[in-house]
Amino acid sequence: MTEPPRPRPLRHPADGRRHRRAAAPGIVILTGAGISRESGLATFRDPDGIWARVRIEDVATPEAFARDPARVHAFYNARRRQLADAALAPNAAHRALVELERAWPGEFLLVTQNVDDLHDRAGSARLIHMHGELAKARCLRCEAVLPWTGDMGGATPCPACAAAGGMRPHVVWFGEMPLAMPQIEAALERCGLFVSIGTSGQVYPAAGFVMQCRGRARTVELNLEPSAGASLFDEAIHGPAATVVPAFVARLLAEHR
Ligand code: APR
Repeated sequence: MTEPPRPRPLRHPADGRRHRRAAAPGIVILTGAGISRESGLATFRDPDGIWARVRIEDVATPEAFARDPARVHAFYNARRRQLADAALAPNAAHRALVELERAWPGEFLLVTQNVDDLHDRAGSARLIHMHGELAKARCLRCEAVLPWTGDMGGATPCPACAAAGGMRPHVVWFGEMPLAMPQIEAALERCGLFVSIGTSGQVYPAAGFVMQCRGRARTVELNLEPSAGASLFDEAIHGPAATVVPAFVARLLAEHR
């Protein structure tokens, strides 16, 4: 837990110097599949979601990959091809988070559970993909992590070490550790504002981030409907991300101008 910021000495307006504004709090933003829904990508747990069509146990665990790698590769190849669809583009919510990142005077970190590249395409820089990225591959032989846009299969050779048969999607499966957790947890400890956008709050550790912040930081949920953790947040704003996120960013920047 960090020391509270030292109060700045107030100066009398007559001395011509401006009152110093309170330092802007550090912001950590968590996004989930809901932020990409209005760009045309399916979520996971909505009635028309991905897990309504295929079982997690068949395509999103290390055991599934060991049992039937061809099926797992086919699942991720199909989702990777969606990223190549010319019609797919970031929406107003992705763009609003870039505006916030660029305008915010304090610390800023965007943590996404999404493996799509819409935050990257929108221009987010201080970004962590805690569940990995569809547009990257990992070699089990040399552990290289490489950009990857095409299909992948059991015989695909590694561009780095040339070994065949060891390529997997650079996506975190159920039962595996999410990426960059020490960096994420340190940012959560320092932040004064935690915002959760477009996630059902059903998958840990991401669903537990609000617990790490509440009481110390202001916590806000922006979601189409109340998430499983809605009661843990100080404030909840419900509506489609492409509408509520730009409005929230505008309000936040106006509060700190
Ligand atoms: N705007 C805002 N929120 C939306 C929208 C929208 N247009 N459409 C749907 N939502 C909300 C849903 O109400 C739901 O609460 O987005 C949330 C999506 O929840 P999930 O489908 O569970 O997706 P997510 O929370 O990102 O899943 C977390 O689980 O399956 C794993 O690794 C996968 O990263 C994923 C993780």
